Amino acid sequence: MAEITITSSSDTAAVTKSCQEFGLTETEFHELLTKVKAAKQTSYSPYSNFRVGAVLLTHSGAYISGANVENASYPVTTCAERVAFGKAITEGHRGFKAVAVATDISPPASPCGMCRQCIREFCDVSIPIIMFDGEDKYTIMRLETLLPLSFGPESLGVQSQIRQVQVLL
Ligand code: THU
Repeated sequence: MAEITITSSSDTAAVTKSCQEFGLTETEFHELLTKVKAAKQTSYSPYSNFRVGAVLLTHSGAYISGANVENASYPVTTCAERVAFGKAITEGHRGFKAVAVATDISPPASPCGMCRQCIREFCDVSIPIIMFDGEDKYTIMRLETLLPLSFGPESLGVQSQIRQVQVLL
Protein backbone atom coordinates (compact mmCIF):
# COMPACT_ATOMS: atom_id res chain seq x y z
CA MET A 1 0.00 0.00 0.00
CA ALA A 2 1.24 3.47 -0.86
CA GLU A 3 1.86 5.73 2.08
CA ILE A 4 -0.59 8.63 2.21
CA THR A 5 0.67 11.97 3.43
CA ILE A 6 -1.77 14.85 3.81
CA THR A 7 -0.17 18.26 3.78
CA SER A 8 -1.38 21.85 4.09
CA SER A 9 -0.94 23.94 0.95
CA SER A 10 0.24 26.77 3.16
CA ASP A 11 3.16 24.67 4.44
CA THR A 12 5.68 26.24 2.08
CA ALA A 13 8.51 23.82 2.84
CA ALA A 14 6.27 20.84 2.18
CA VAL A 15 4.92 22.35 -1.05
CA THR A 16 8.48 23.04 -2.25
CA LYS A 17 9.37 19.42 -1.55
CA SER A 18 6.28 18.09 -3.32
CA CYS A 19 6.95 20.29 -6.34
CA GLN A 20 10.54 19.09 -6.57
CA GLU A 21 9.51 15.47 -6.29
CA PHE A 22 6.73 15.74 -8.87
CA GLY A 23 8.31 18.14 -11.34
CA LEU A 24 6.07 21.15 -10.83
CA THR A 25 6.88 24.78 -10.15
CA GLU A 26 5.38 26.34 -7.06
CA THR A 27 3.52 28.79 -9.27
CA GLU A 28 1.96 25.85 -11.13
CA PHE A 29 1.00 24.22 -7.85
CA HIS A 30 -0.75 27.34 -6.53
CA GLU A 31 -2.40 28.03 -9.90
CA LEU A 32 -3.74 24.49 -9.88
CA LEU A 33 -5.12 25.02 -6.38
CA THR A 34 -6.79 28.34 -7.25
CA LYS A 35 -8.25 27.04 -10.49
CA VAL A 36 -9.46 23.71 -9.11
CA LYS A 37 -11.29 25.47 -6.27
CA ALA A 38 -12.96 27.71 -8.87
CA ALA A 39 -13.79 24.66 -10.99
CA LYS A 40 -15.43 23.00 -7.98
CA GLN A 41 -17.80 25.97 -7.73
CA THR A 42 -19.12 25.16 -11.21
CA SER A 43 -20.22 21.65 -10.20
CA TYR A 44 -23.77 20.68 -11.13
CA SER A 45 -24.50 18.22 -8.34
CA PRO A 46 -28.05 18.71 -7.00
CA TYR A 47 -28.47 14.99 -6.25
CA SER A 48 -25.32 14.17 -4.32
CA ASN A 49 -24.34 17.70 -3.28
CA PHE A 50 -20.82 16.33 -3.69
CA ARG A 51 -18.88 18.97 -5.58
CA VAL A 52 -15.83 17.93 -7.55
CA GLY A 53 -13.50 20.16 -9.54
CA ALA A 54 -10.73 19.00 -11.84
CA VAL A 55 -7.97 20.90 -13.62
CA LEU A 56 -5.47 19.60 -16.16
CA LEU A 57 -2.13 21.35 -16.69
CA THR A 58 -0.43 20.83 -20.05
CA HIS A 59 3.30 20.95 -20.78
CA SER A 60 2.63 24.08 -22.80
CA GLY A 61 1.15 25.82 -19.77
CA ALA A 62 -2.58 25.59 -20.46
CA TYR A 63 -5.04 24.91 -17.64
CA ILE A 64 -8.30 23.14 -18.55
CA SER A 65 -11.08 22.96 -15.96
CA GLY A 66 -14.02 20.65 -15.41
CA ALA A 67 -16.56 19.78 -12.74
CA ASN A 68 -18.98 16.95 -12.18
CA VAL A 69 -22.27 17.21 -14.09
CA GLU A 70 -25.05 15.11 -12.60
CA ASN A 71 -28.31 13.91 -14.10
CA ALA A 72 -31.73 12.87 -12.79
CA SER A 73 -30.95 9.56 -14.43
CA TYR A 74 -28.02 8.98 -12.09
CA PRO A 75 -25.74 6.85 -14.32
CA VAL A 76 -25.72 9.65 -16.90
CA THR A 77 -23.61 11.71 -14.49
CA THR A 78 -20.13 12.61 -15.68
CA CYS A 79 -17.26 13.03 -13.26
CA ALA A 80 -15.21 16.24 -13.12
CA GLU A 81 -12.06 14.58 -14.47
CA ARG A 82 -13.83 13.23 -17.56
CA VAL A 83 -15.51 16.56 -18.22
CA ALA A 84 -12.05 18.21 -18.10
CA PHE A 85 -10.48 15.62 -20.42
CA GLY A 86 -13.39 15.84 -22.84
CA LYS A 87 -12.92 19.61 -23.04
CA ALA A 88 -9.13 19.39 -23.30
CA ILE A 89 -9.01 16.74 -25.99
CA THR A 90 -11.66 18.32 -28.17
CA GLU A 91 -9.94 21.70 -27.83
CA GLY A 92 -6.74 20.11 -29.17
CA HIS A 93 -4.67 19.84 -26.00
CA ARG A 94 -2.18 17.01 -25.61
CA GLY A 95 0.81 16.43 -23.32
CA PHE A 96 -0.43 16.70 -19.76
CA LYS A 97 1.88 17.55 -16.89
CA ALA A 98 -0.43 17.30 -13.85
CA VAL A 99 -4.02 16.66 -12.83
CA ALA A 100 -5.63 18.39 -9.84
CA VAL A 101 -8.88 17.30 -8.22
CA ALA A 102 -10.74 19.10 -5.41
CA THR A 103 -13.67 18.06 -3.24
CA ASP A 104 -15.09 19.31 0.05
CA ILE A 105 -14.20 16.25 2.08
CA SER A 106 -11.20 15.32 4.16
CA PRO A 107 -9.09 13.31 3.66
CA PRO A 108 -9.06 14.34 -0.01
CA ALA A 109 -11.05 12.18 -2.42
CA SER A 110 -9.19 10.38 -5.18
CA PRO A 111 -10.39 9.90 -8.77
CA CYS A 112 -12.81 7.01 -9.25
CA GLY A 113 -11.73 3.94 -11.19
CA MET A 114 -13.34 5.08 -14.42
CA CYS A 115 -11.57 8.43 -14.21
CA ARG A 116 -8.22 6.79 -13.49
CA GLN A 117 -8.66 4.82 -16.70
CA CYS A 118 -9.62 8.00 -18.55
CA ILE A 119 -6.42 9.69 -17.33
CA ARG A 120 -4.47 6.60 -18.47
CA GLU A 121 -5.64 7.13 -22.04
CA PHE A 122 -4.00 10.54 -22.38
CA CYS A 123 -1.20 10.71 -19.82
CA ASP A 124 2.04 9.06 -18.92
CA VAL A 125 1.63 6.73 -15.94
CA SER A 126 4.08 8.94 -14.02
CA ILE A 127 1.76 11.97 -14.14
CA PRO A 128 1.15 13.47 -10.68
CA ILE A 129 -2.43 13.68 -9.46
CA ILE A 130 -2.92 16.29 -6.75
CA MET A 131 -5.95 15.70 -4.56
CA PHE A 132 -7.17 18.66 -2.49
CA ASP A 133 -9.68 18.55 0.36
CA GLY A 134 -12.04 21.39 1.30
CA GLU A 135 -9.37 23.11 3.41
CA ASP A 136 -6.56 23.26 0.84
CA LYS A 137 -4.85 20.20 2.26
CA TYR A 138 -3.51 17.83 -0.34
CA THR A 139 -1.96 14.54 -1.16
CA ILE A 140 -0.14 13.72 -4.41
CA MET A 141 0.32 10.40 -6.13
CA ARG A 142 1.39 9.29 -9.54
CA LEU A 143 -1.16 7.60 -11.79
CA GLU A 144 0.87 4.38 -11.68
CA THR A 145 0.29 4.24 -7.91
CA LEU A 146 -3.46 4.80 -8.26
CA LEU A 147 -3.77 2.46 -11.25
CA PRO A 148 -1.09 -0.23 -11.18
CA LEU A 149 -0.65 -2.77 -14.00
CA SER A 150 -2.79 -0.56 -16.17
CA PHE A 151 -4.24 -1.24 -19.59
CA GLY A 152 -3.86 1.41 -22.26
CA PRO A 153 -3.79 2.35 -25.94
CA GLU A 154 -0.51 0.50 -26.68
CA SER A 155 -2.18 -2.81 -25.77
CA LEU A 156 -4.50 -2.28 -28.72
CA GLY A 157 -1.73 -1.19 -31.06
CA VAL A 158 -2.65 2.47 -30.83
CA GLN A 159 0.29 4.78 -30.42
CA SER A 160 -0.17 6.87 -27.34
CA GLN A 161 -0.26 10.62 -27.88
CA ILE A 162 0.84 11.42 -24.38
CA ARG A 163 4.03 13.23 -25.37
CA GLN A 164 2.60 15.25 -28.20
CA VAL A 165 2.84 18.78 -26.95
CA GLN A 166 0.07 20.92 -28.38
CA VAL A 167 -1.62 20.70 -31.69
CA LEU A 168 -4.80 20.62 -33.63
CA LEU A 169 -7.70 22.99 -34.15
N1 THU B 1 -17.29 12.23 -8.87
C1 THU B 1 -16.38 12.90 -9.64
O1 THU B 1 -16.68 13.95 -10.23
N2 THU B 1 -15.13 12.38 -9.76
C2 THU B 1 -14.72 11.23 -9.17
O2 THU B 1 -13.60 10.79 -9.41
C3 THU B 1 -15.60 10.55 -8.22
C4 THU B 1 -17.00 11.00 -8.18
C5 THU B 1 -18.64 12.78 -8.75
C6 THU B 1 -19.70 11.98 -9.45
C7 THU B 1 -20.94 12.39 -8.70
O3 THU B 1 -21.45 13.59 -9.25
C8 THU B 1 -20.43 12.70 -7.30
O4 THU B 1 -19.03 12.84 -7.41
C9 THU B 1 -20.77 11.62 -6.28
O5 THU B 1 -20.35 10.38 -6.73
